[in-house]
Amino acid sequence: MSFGFGILRRASHSQRPNSNKKQSLPSLFFSIFPRSFSQLHSQSQTQLPSFGIAFDIDGVVLRDHTPIGGSPQALRKLYDHNSGTLKIPYVFLTNGGGFRESKRAMQLSELLGVNISPSQVLQGHSPFKQLVNRYENELVVAVGKGEPAAVMFEYGFKNVLSIDEYASYFDDIDPLAQYKEWITKTVANQSRTFKEIGSRKSVHSERVQAAFIVSDSVDWSRDIQVLCDILRSGGLPGKEIGHQPPLYFAHDDLKYQATFPSERLGMGAFRIALESIFNRIHFNALDYTSFGKPNAFVFKNAETVLKQLASSLDHEVHVVNHPDDGSHFKTLYMIGDNPSVDIKGARQAGHPWFSILTRTGVFKGKENPSDFPADLVVDTVEEAVDYILRKERTS
Ligand code: G3P
Ligand code: MG
Repeated sequence: MSFGFGILRRASHSQRPNSNKKQSLPSLFFSIFPRSFSQLHSQSQTQLPSFGIAFDIDGVVLRDHTPIGGSPQALRKLYDHNSGTLKIPYVFLTNGGGFRESKRAMQLSELLGVNISPSQVLQGHSPFKQLVNRYENELVVAVGKGEPAAVMFEYGFKNVLSIDEYASYFDDIDPLAQYKEWITKTVANQSRTFKEIGSRKSVHSERVQAAFIVSDSVDWSRDIQVLCDILRSGGLPGKEIGHQPPLYFAHDDLKYQATFPSERLGMGAFRIALESIFNRIHFNALDYTSFGKPNAFVFKNAETVLKQLASSLDHEVHVVNHPDDGSHFKTLYMIGDNPSVDIKGARQAGHPWFSILTRTGVFKGKENPSDFPADLVVDTVEEAVDYILRKERTS
């Protein structure tokens, strides 16, 4: 399954809005688009960059909203010192999410001090857009922090409800709701966001055709309850048992590094909780699909996007039918903090991936982990970038 086609096509279209927004960003920001594309285009006529970089976000570049490991300085080194144009193609390859790629790019730009394009943001849920043909007009439920329904709506899912809003149409579906004062506010905000969807639909008679876990569940007890209701009943909570609708997870990270000193439970932990409970109360085992790192297609797609960034060009015409004709890259660097996700994924992907493990996140040890050893272990992302630039002799 290739995800490059859709992502790249959208990426090209996204350059214009991004460049319009540039004025709202602090003037010190380095600019990638559209100047970098023209710069990279001129490079492509002589020599395509022989390497690219994929940055993990949580535990490498950020802890929650705080830059770590010298990440702003590290990223600046990828731009021409004088002109501020991009020299080295790079993407963010994160399992995290909950916001549209365009919004996440804006957030990252503000936090890191460089102007990042939506095309450079590859999130765990980005591949969900490839399922839009199957569910375009079907009722689907989106779960997780941030704006999960807005994410899916932007991907083209026209009949999507957040689990917050969906649950709100069923009286007493969560017996603990009365103790959760935040629910009312969240649902009211999200309802305002989705005026486009129109006035409320017949959720009591319309079957949910699929559930998407877009980002980390905010309310495990409510979400596990409602998901069990949806999945056991064939998409009609409170009704008789039916065939389980498909269930998709953006990734399967057991843990990740946020601000708290020790790792936090991630979507993989939520999946285990849901699966354990579902399998105790239902006669068929939970059926689900997980996307995200360490799956090989994620790295293949990153390679395709990096290739496009490196050679790109004028725009859509060159993007849409780009053949998957192998990589021109000698090396692609994956800088991650999680051995069983980032390093395992890069190792499985094979050539041209080279894995670099930092000590700023999930991994905090001294020695290269024996289960998923990286090609290189460093303290910080800045150290990783310095190593790459030295090795590639471009600094
Ligand atoms: O919830 C996000 C987390 O599981 C992983 O994010 O950036 O480390 O891939 P990242
Ligand atoms: Mg990470």
